[in-house]
Amino acid sequence: MNNHRILRGPLVSFLNDPGEGDAPDAGSLLHREDGAIWIEDGRIRAVGDYQTLVPSLPNDIGVVDYTDKLMMPGFIDSHVHYVQLDIMASYGRQLLDWLNDYTFPEECRFAERVHAENVAEAFLDEQLRVGTTTAQVFCTSHPVSVDTFFAAAKRRGLRMLAGKVLMDRHAPDGLTDTAEGGIRDSERLISDWHGKDRLGYTLTPRFAPTSTPAQLDATGGILRNAPDLHLQTHLSENQGEIAWVAELFPDCKDYLGVYERYGLVGPRSTFAHGIHLTQPMRNRLAAAGANIAFCPTSNLFLGSGLFDRLACRDAGLNTSLASDVGGGTDLSGLATLKAAYQVGQLLDQPMTAWQGFYRLTLGNARALHLDSHIGSLREGSDADIVVLDPYATPLLSRRIERTRNLGERLFALMMLGDDRTVHATWANGTCVHQRTLE
Ligand code: GUN
Ligand code: ZN
Repeated sequence: MNNHRILRGPLVSFLNDPGEGDAPDAGSLLHREDGAIWIEDGRIRAVGDYQTLVPSLPNDIGVVDYTDKLMMPGFIDSHVHYVQLDIMASYGRQLLDWLNDYTFPEECRFAERVHAENVAEAFLDEQLRVGTTTAQVFCTSHPVSVDTFFAAAKRRGLRMLAGKVLMDRHAPDGLTDTAEGGIRDSERLISDWHGKDRLGYTLTPRFAPTSTPAQLDATGGILRNAPDLHLQTHLSENQGEIAWVAELFPDCKDYLGVYERYGLVGPRSTFAHGIHLTQPMRNRLAAAGANIAFCPTSNLFLGSGLFDRLACRDAGLNTSLASDVGGGTDLSGLATLKAAYQVGQLLDQPMTAWQGFYRLTLGNARALHLDSHIGSLREGSDADIVVLDPYATPLLSRRIERTRNLGERLFALMMLGDDRTVHATWANGTCVHQRTLE
């Protein structure tokens, strides 16, 4: 094993939801200016002040110097499609046309193992370059797209959730499965990958229009028998989509009612978007302990609408943060925060940097029930760490020099930061990305 290591430098980690105030709620933040993270065999053995930890360290321990950087828990992306990497930024369509014109033809290519391997590796390279160490990932309906993704994540020692898309209607032949075939393939993939190393399986019905009632029902059956599995799908993203669901499922009281009917709404369920919801729908989701993945760059890119974050909060509904690439325009968690802030401004509900970085780390970990492993820098956590460089570019340096406190520094990072701001990424106690200066 890689044994012991110390990462020394400023560090920030959340202990709890910091609230919506300008300052974080008392006791919600861990901040050390001369901090240290002691890593042992892929886990965090201790976190604290460097000077306090020094006496307890082994003599031969290697110290990595991050004294002018900022360490945080690795970022988490609660909803992303690895298979859409190559159709990001495809011009000029809203959801349903975008799916038919760009997404479905691209996803057909993942019947080929070589293509899936190539994209899975490129996707993971990109994620690590932006400091994302865990994601909940849509593959395609082809089992090989899942096998290749999990194999690539396993080789890199990453904690990842992923699953095979279930879709047995309203899509090209090259993408549709059948109700029984989709379930059989999912069960085989669960048995091969779920709980292996740091991998977990997410049941993945694409969205109500592309699954028959029989397929949704069978998916609910798996979940009932294996409640430790995750589930993710899409919900109330676009008005055309919502009207189509109402036509296809006239007996259900609303879009969410479809997923409820088939037993798909539970504490490990993630519903991407959830833009056009009523407050009773938010209350029903909250009562089930589910979470909505707020995907701001995607919602803006596809013209889907403005997500009402505070209405969810009022309902006690968990909101996670997600890129939703390829509908999203950026894999970077920093870009997601920037867009989330801008959406919030339009609704008169600006999001503080405290709230933003909490959501990207511990908040997402909690929403995905992974907080016993990731999301914070604390003894016993997996050593998944992002090292930000507040001086990564001349412009950022100028701005950082003008900040007066940590809150201002974090806000400048979330608005001006990008992949260049990620100096290094550690996963499972190993440095898996190191920025090189061009
Ligand atoms: N709804 C159903 N499939 C998709 C998808 O691939 N992306 C987005 N943004 N919404 C969807
Ligand atoms: Zn999506």
